[in-house]
Amino acid sequence: MKHNILEIIKKIIHELAERPVIFNLLRRILEFNYRGEKRVIRDEITVYDRVLDLGCGTGELCKEFISKKYVGIDLNDLYIRYAKEKYPDYIFETMDATQLQFSDNSFDTILISGVLHHCNNEVAMSILKEVHRVLTPNGKVIIWEDALTCSKMNIVGRVIQKLDEGEHILDKDGYLNLFHLYFKITKSYNMVSGFCDYHVFILESKSN
Ligand SMILES: C[S@@+](CC[C@H](N)C(=O)[O-])C[C@H]1O[C@@H](n2cnc3c(N)ncnc32)[C@H](O)[C@@H]1O
Repeated sequence: MKHNILEIIKKIIHELAERPVIFNLLRRILEFNYRGEKRVIRDEITVYDRVLDLGCGTGELCKEFISKKYVGIDLNDLYIRYAKEKYPDYIFETMDATQLQFSDNSFDTILISGVLHHCNNEVAMSILKEVHRVLTPNGKVIIWEDALTCSKMNIVGRVIQKLDEGEHILDKDGYLNLFHLYFKITKSYNMVSGFCDYHVFILESKSN
């Protein structure tokens, strides 16, 4: 019974979050306008890098980058249409990250914000293989994925995690295992953004 109610609430949230405006509103409220994410971008990314925002959703993070140097891609055409309309100076394309339509070595930095915990291991590995291909040899990959809520007081964070659609949340070692075939881990740390906890990973190609 309890399980059924949870599934029904999850389904309702999933349907609401399919609407770009509601998806943005939820993220802005729960993550205090992406405070933690913006801090990591400012700390880790050089503004002149050519950046791929892989699984960019509604494109809310694009404003942190120079428009001419930024490309956002996502599988969800509704999100991409919304992003194109809201940020006409930026490039957005509907694309599957397991089959990136870019040549080898196209980007200095690839940002993967909360995407892999929606993918099973096989899909995540196909994405990482493509990331390795389109990243320049000295490029950087910046990934953050949901982590288990640290603070016992963060009840909202715990509820969000229960309701999260991502069915493949891994612990830190689980993520590290995914990366090691193609990448070296140069840094990893925790990040809190509003009510949400994340693992942050900074990677470099292994072929360097
Ligand atoms: C939780 S949202 C994160 C959106 C955005 N990165 C952010 O931080 O606001 C996960 C996104 O990953 C996208 N996604 C999942 N699998 C994908 C794939 N194979 N190729 C491209 N995008 C994908 C989903 O469509 C969704 O927009």
